[in-house]
Amino acid sequence: NGPSQWQRSFQTQVTQSKIPNFGFAFDIDGVLVRSSTPISGASKALSYLQRESIPFVLLTNGGGKSEAERVRDLQEKLDVEITTDMFMQSHTPFAELREYHDKTVLVVGGDYDKCQKVAQGYGFKNVVTPGDIYTAHPDIWPFAKPFSSVYSTFAKPLPRQINPDTPAESLKIDAIFVYNDPRDWGLDAHLILDLMLSSHGILGTLSPKNGDKNLPNNGYLQDSQPALYYSNPDLWWASSYHLNRLGQGGFQAAFAGLWNEVTGGAKLTSTTIGKPTQATYEYAETLLRGRRKRLWGQVGLNDPLREVFMVGDNPESDIRGANEYRSPHGSVWTSILVKTGVWREGKEPSYKPDIIRENVLEAVEWAVEDAR
Ligand code: G3P
Ligand code: MG
Repeated sequence: NGPSQWQRSFQTQVTQSKIPNFGFAFDIDGVLVRSSTPISGASKALSYLQRESIPFVLLTNGGGKSEAERVRDLQEKLDVEITTDMFMQSHTPFAELREYHDKTVLVVGGDYDKCQKVAQGYGFKNVVTPGDIYTAHPDIWPFAKPFSSVYSTFAKPLPRQINPDTPAESLKIDAIFVYNDPRDWGLDAHLILDLMLSSHGILGTLSPKNGDKNLPNNGYLQDSQPALYYSNPDLWWASSYHLNRLGQGGFQAAFAGLWNEVTGGAKLTSTTIGKPTQATYEYAETLLRGRRKRLWGQVGLNDPLREVFMVGDNPESDIRGANEYRSPHGSVWTSILVKTGVWREGKEPSYKPDIIRENVLEAVEWAVEDAR
């Protein structure tokens, strides 16, 4: 059967104006896949856009492996050509934090030492994992014993540091990065707590100042706590289970509750990147503009990217991010919510999308018609 009506109308549109002045940003979990299972229509939608050289990027709050590895997985699952220049995951922007590349950082989350390897690939030279700390100090968290055999498969010796006025050799952590969902919330939360209450980020010390809400700035940074970065605020995400599962935002909420209980309400300052933040969407638009240039040569001012269709399943991250995004390049972002992920029909989305469609294929069909 020949091209459908929307494919025919698009083909006319491209031949007339040649370079499409629109593109797409696709969320992954709940739009293209549920865990490792492709969602119906996803492969057809992306393959069509690839065939017509309509630029698109994939923009996920997921992570836990290198961009190259995740892109290979997606390419295989969706049977469509995907390259790292059209892909962004939650922790991708951490690579830009060059001020920490030579410092000592704790990287939390993900399977085994995969995130440690990702951070090293970004240029971080001294990366420690909770597994490394637990293997060096097994009594630091008495309940991690069942996992000790897993940690021992990848743990590395801790960097040996002599820090002023502390035990002979100690570990000083300058920044903590949560790259992906922690696998052992207990160990990871306790290590973050230890470091945020420590003196100057030195593990095994306790600063009487940090967390004392009677001090200026509500007890924060009295004794130079490590910086705390999260890569994804999602409370829920759509996995292969039929009910939504807690995401990294769930761990953040648990840690904030722990901090509040332990300090009696002292200030906890952390930085969270990922959707719906403006910075994440700016990064995604830069990728999309680069992709469009590679597909269509040097598109100049007379062929600007005018509209981007953001297709997502989570109103709090995908829809809110697209609705609130202010492009420095003047593009307009149209949010399309699909019914294949976190959001359930029958409940008003917490952030109102421009359009609602059943799935990603219908979203692309609508958008191509609309962009005509
Ligand atoms: O951990 C993944 C989850 O937070 C959602 O990922 O692809 O829907 O942004 P995504
Ligand atoms: Mg999603």
